[in-house]
Amino acid sequence: MGRLGQGLRSALAVVAVAGGLLKLVAAQDCYANSTINGYTFDVDNFYSQDQLDDFAQNCTTLFGDVGFGSNFTGSAVLRNLQNITGLVTVGSNLTSIEFPDLLSLGGLDASSSLLRVVSLPLLERVNDIDVEEAQSLNFSSPNVLNASSIKLTGQISALDFSHLDTVFSELYIDGSSLKKSFNVSLPALRNASDVEISGNLSSLSLPLLATAGSSSQQAGLTLYNSGKPINMSLPSLSNVNGTLSLDGGIAGIYLPSLLNTTADLVVDTSSSLAVYLPSLIGANKISLEGAISSANFSSLEYFTSFDIQSNIYIDCATSLPSNRTHQGETSCSGAAKPTNNSGRAISIGVGVGVGVGGGIGLIIIVIWVYRRNLKHKKRASEAVANLDVYGLQEQTHSAAVAVERPNTDPPPYSRY
Ligand SMILES: *[C@@H]1O[C@H](CO)[C@@H](O)[C@H](O)[C@H]1NC(C)=O
Ligand SMILES: *[C@@H]1O[C@H](CO)[C@@H](O)[C@H](O)[C@H]1NC(C)=O
Ligand SMILES: *[C@@H]1O[C@H](CO)[C@@H](O)[C@H](O)[C@H]1NC(C)=O
Ligand SMILES: *[C@@H]1O[C@H](CO)[C@@H](O)[C@H](O)[C@H]1NC(C)=O
Ligand SMILES: *[C@@H]1O[C@H](CO)[C@@H](O)[C@H](O)[C@H]1NC(C)=O
Ligand SMILES: *[C@@H]1O[C@H](CO)[C@@H](O)[C@H](O)[C@H]1NC(C)=O
Ligand SMILES: *[C@@H]1O[C@H](CO)[C@@H](O)[C@H](O)[C@H]1NC(C)=O
Ligand SMILES: *[C@@H]1O[C@H](CO)[C@@H](O)[C@H](O)[C@H]1NC(C)=O
Ligand SMILES: *[C@@H]1O[C@H](CO)[C@@H](O)[C@H](O)[C@H]1NC(C)=O
Ligand SMILES: *[C@@H]1O[C@H](CO)[C@@H](O)[C@H](O)[C@H]1NC(C)=O
Ligand SMILES: *[C@@H]1O[C@H](CO)[C@@H](O)[C@H](O)[C@H]1NC(C)=O
Ligand SMILES: *[C@@H]1O[C@H](CO)[C@@H](O)[C@H](O)[C@H]1NC(C)=O
Repeated sequence: MGRLGQGLRSALAVVAVAGGLLKLVAAQDCYANSTINGYTFDVDNFYSQDQLDDFAQNCTTLFGDVGFGSNFTGSAVLRNLQNITGLVTVGSNLTSIEFPDLLSLGGLDASSSLLRVVSLPLLERVNDIDVEEAQSLNFSSPNVLNASSIKLTGQISALDFSHLDTVFSELYIDGSSLKKSFNVSLPALRNASDVEISGNLSSLSLPLLATAGSSSQQAGLTLYNSGKPINMSLPSLSNVNGTLSLDGGIAGIYLPSLLNTTADLVVDTSSSLAVYLPSLIGANKISLEGAISSANFSSLEYFTSFDIQSNIYIDCATSLPSNRTHQGETSCSGAAKPTNNSGRAISIGVGVGVGVGGGIGLIIIVIWVYRRNLKHKKRASEAVANLDVYGLQEQTHSAAVAVERPNTDPPPYSRY
């Protein structure tokens, strides 16, 4: 079994107290360093818990990346280490990864259907978290305050980001499982750019989220629930850019702090919904689709367009904004009212078109712009993942990896 301490530069004193029962380890810097086919990488690969334990004896800060060999199965626990400046790549057969002492991490990149647990109990700083293909994932990092991006996709069972305050570039939580629902609670989140939370949600709690979609052109806020109707409540949301999109099973919408926004508002509900937004004064384009039973926009004054296209009966006369002080085109259509108790609605559209700034009689064309490019960007750590998982022996691979490696963006607080 290969020793991993070869890159160790400064091993300070390990003071054994009380017959070795308690070890006090001073701050020790280690430098990840692997040589493969003549190429040197700033990555340490681990193949067993024993190696991790050995390594932990002498390192509190690791400069570089960490990988795990595919023959490392079960759980990996990296004690003692407080700081990893680079990326931890989990592309292997690990089911659980725990860093009980880690405070600071460049990034975590995992793509594994086996991974069930990610535990980062003390972690405060992290740049990027990207976990894909999860199955029944329990991700816990209760002390993280802010992050550049957080992306979790797959089946999610539990999330703990209880102190997360700011996400600078992207927050993407996509729990694809249709069977199992999950709760999303981000109790401290105040500010997040480009947010998408989707899946079979059993509850959603974003009590402090005030600013969303603040840093890039396409930024916005999308909530999509494929499960039973839930309340989409954003009690603090006052500033949103791009598009605010609320989709799927929606029991109610609560946006009391959203007064005047330049964002588009798109609601597409699969369950009967009375849209009640009496505080909203202005928005760009407002589009309500799906099972819209009524709408109340009693304060709305500023808008570019306002369209309701309901697939159930709606009283268009009372659902359109009444305060038409300013320009803005409106349209409304819904299913015809059932004529008897059979409940079979005849789907003939009853349209009311009101052109305030221009003509009357609109042709409603609903263009569904699916904003997000679901194709993920090439993962920065692909090189490390290849290195780790797909075999170290292939010359061509290694050469390609060696060329690609510098593309990995170092975290701002990294020395590299
Ligand atoms: C850790 O440090 C001790 C004492 O300096 C040394 O004996 C041991 O070999 C080191 N372990 C590793 C994995 O480098
Ligand atoms: C990395 O390891 C190689 C070979 O073991 C050694 O020559 C080199 O000095 C090491 N670099 C660092 C930064 O430790
Ligand atoms: C795991 O794989 C590494 C690299 O291929 C090898 O060095 C190590 O001996 C393997 N460990 C076990 C326990 O098979
Ligand atoms: C790890 O997973 C790979 C497939 O991802 C598989 O080929 C390999 O046999 C697994 N290794 C072990 C030790 O289970
Ligand atoms: C998730 O993991 C955390 C700690 O890692 C644990 O406290 C919690 O109970 C787990 N939750 C579930 C639902 O397994
Ligand atoms: C992010 O968190 C760190 C502490 O981990 C803090 O120093 C920094 O000011 C925070 N940045 C923002 C923009 O909140
Ligand atoms: C939200 O965070 C962005 C950085 O992502 C920052 O520029 C902006 O000032 C923050 N807004 C508020 C209201 O905190
Ligand atoms: C979601 O949270 C509620 C309580 O807030 C709890 O009863 C329910 O079991 C949770 N569901 C899941 C899937 O964790
Ligand atoms: C985002 O919103 C803020 C405040 O509402 C505004 O100043 C900024 O120009 C907007 N950014 C974009 C890209 O629309
Ligand atoms: C709302 O925003 C519009 C421009 O988008 C502006 O003209 C109007 O004065 C604002 N109204 C209030 C009450 O802030
Ligand atoms: C309609 O808009 C005017 C100003 O444009 C405002 O004074 C009035 O209060 C609004 N009416 C309602 C019912 O909100
Ligand atoms: C982690 O290491 C970086 C680079 O030396 C340093 O800037 C940062 O303060 C360290 N963080 C912690 C929590 O020790």
